[in-house]
Amino acid sequence: MCGILGCIGVEDAAQVLHDGLKRLEYRGYDSAGIAVAHEGDIQVDKTAGRVEAIEPTHIPHSTFGLAHTRWATHGEPNEANAHPHTDCAGRIAIAHNGIIENHDELRQQLRQDGHAFTSTTDTEVIAHLIEDAYQATGDLGQALRQARHRLEGSYAILAVHADEPNLVVGTRHESPLVVGIDDGALYLASDIVAFREHTDRVVHLEDGDLVRLTPQGLIVDGQRTEPVQAEQVAWDLEDATKAGFPHFMLKEMHEQPRALREALTGRTQPGSIELNDGDTPTCSPSNETARDRGIDLAQVADHDQLIFIACGSSYNAALAAAHEFEQLAGIEARVERASEYEPNPWQTDRAAVVAVTQSGETADTLRALEAAKQAGFTTLAVTNTNGSTATRTAHGWVPIRAGPEISVAATKTFASQLAVLHNLAAHLAHLRGFTPDPRVREELDHLQDVPTQVQATLDEAGPANAVGQRLADHDRCFVLGSGPNHPLAEEIALKIKEISYVHAEAFPAGELKHGPLALVEEGTPVLALAPRTAEDPEAMISSMSEVAARGADVIAITDEPQPIEERGFQTVPVASKTEAGFVYSALVQGQRIAYQCAVERGCNVDKPRNLAKSVTVE
Ligand code: AGP
Repeated sequence: MCGILGCIGVEDAAQVLHDGLKRLEYRGYDSAGIAVAHEGDIQVDKTAGRVEAIEPTHIPHSTFGLAHTRWATHGEPNEANAHPHTDCAGRIAIAHNGIIENHDELRQQLRQDGHAFTSTTDTEVIAHLIEDAYQATGDLGQALRQARHRLEGSYAILAVHADEPNLVVGTRHESPLVVGIDDGALYLASDIVAFREHTDRVVHLEDGDLVRLTPQGLIVDGQRTEPVQAEQVAWDLEDATKAGFPHFMLKEMHEQPRALREALTGRTQPGSIELNDGDTPTCSPSNETARDRGIDLAQVADHDQLIFIACGSSYNAALAAAHEFEQLAGIEARVERASEYEPNPWQTDRAAVVAVTQSGETADTLRALEAAKQAGFTTLAVTNTNGSTATRTAHGWVPIRAGPEISVAATKTFASQLAVLHNLAAHLAHLRGFTPDPRVREELDHLQDVPTQVQATLDEAGPANAVGQRLADHDRCFVLGSGPNHPLAEEIALKIKEISYVHAEAFPAGELKHGPLALVEEGTPVLALAPRTAEDPEAMISSMSEVAARGADVIAITDEPQPIEERGFQTVPVASKTEAGFVYSALVQGQRIAYQCAVERGCNVDKPRNLAKSVTVE
């Protein structure tokens, strides 16, 4: 995944592009580059490594240009492979996010036609294709359109030409691209954060759109059935800055009470969740009319089974919520890893497919969603990103309203997804006329208290910080959780692995003796999720004793420390009153342990090695 940004009509393009790239670095940061047009030439500055290495004041003055921050997929991350890439004459510069699958074949043909390549990327073929097409058409927009027809794969592409002053063109296919509209200036980027400091008015582009930005305005050519409409962004730049926290992750962890309130506000009464946030759905890439996509929740409630498709933390959120759909709404819930999912067309009458994806752009999830839709399933997306490909592909979508999440590690979006899914289960139960176990209903009524409990837990950081520091001396650890807490154990283990590089594995406590116990040695850290409300709290205590007897260093995350401490175990306390409440508060302590461990080990918390925030390639 990479980040791209173009701008036009700005005072100092190099500075605007440089600032924007820094905000896009969560999408990739192994090389970067900026291209601006200056006195009839294209000037390109590239670097291996972070954008900081580029000095914007050394770039000639211009009012338009484009830029790229890369996460290498084809070709190693060096200066030659950094974008922007140029054509043979150096008159055209392009930036690309995605993968060109037929690049080998195109490269061969272009070489035979006399084109010389300077990089080993898949992207460079695009610059040469545009070069050929421009010679034939003399129009950069047309040239991009013609080049696009020869590309297979996923892409968002920006291009400028030295002979076309005051023009930036762009197009997308299965990669995000959004326009920002300011007075006299326009921006085009993979993500709104790149230009949010300049404007809050945006247009989400759709697959197949070809956009021309000029100082006079914006022209979108596409196969849309509805006119292009600007939308207002609902969050401030403050939401996308560290606001005094040392890391985005820590800030986003602290935003969880607010995010949870946003996720739940006005939505806890039956009938108060509206698909598409009450908006008229926009048309999708496959050109359906808005009416085709105007499903309501009753149509989802008609199904006896929900198949959740998701990756990583979103998968864990779906797994944690699946139990609620079964208990509360009497709907069978299956959770599939999106990367592995293949739709079974025989199930279309009884099952609906729900994609859970904070970014709405994860390639594996989008592939699975599209496949489900093609197979005839009713589809729904639960996402943090209005206007994302997931919202445009699914028949309906539910926003989680967590605000922008910059750190690669999902924190507040996991919590908000879980809350929205819990709530969705209650709404479906109501629509199905299903009477759940009164205890489950009571749990749900208490969801309103969860943000306050999470805040109280966040305020008690000391013990979790101490555990994180201790964990930093180890290479591996285990997280035990049973029943509804097993997905939570998986999520905590994922956080530890991903940001601190400590190998963390989650197990249901009862599984220990069937194999994993052999891995426990003197001093092995074991985190145990031990809620007061568990069906059988003693079962977890015996599992803890079992590992402690083999020398493990056992720490319980619990809402009832006293009886556990009396047995000689150390605890990390959490504030919660109910079974569901425990999950959210214990999550916060697990995140804190992972965070502190990563800080202690000197890891790059917000940008862990080998990972990008949203994985837009399969
Ligand atoms: C979690 O911390 C990860 N960064 C990752 O597992 C993420 O949840 C996954 O890639 C799915 O992303 P999505 O929710 O944007 O689809």
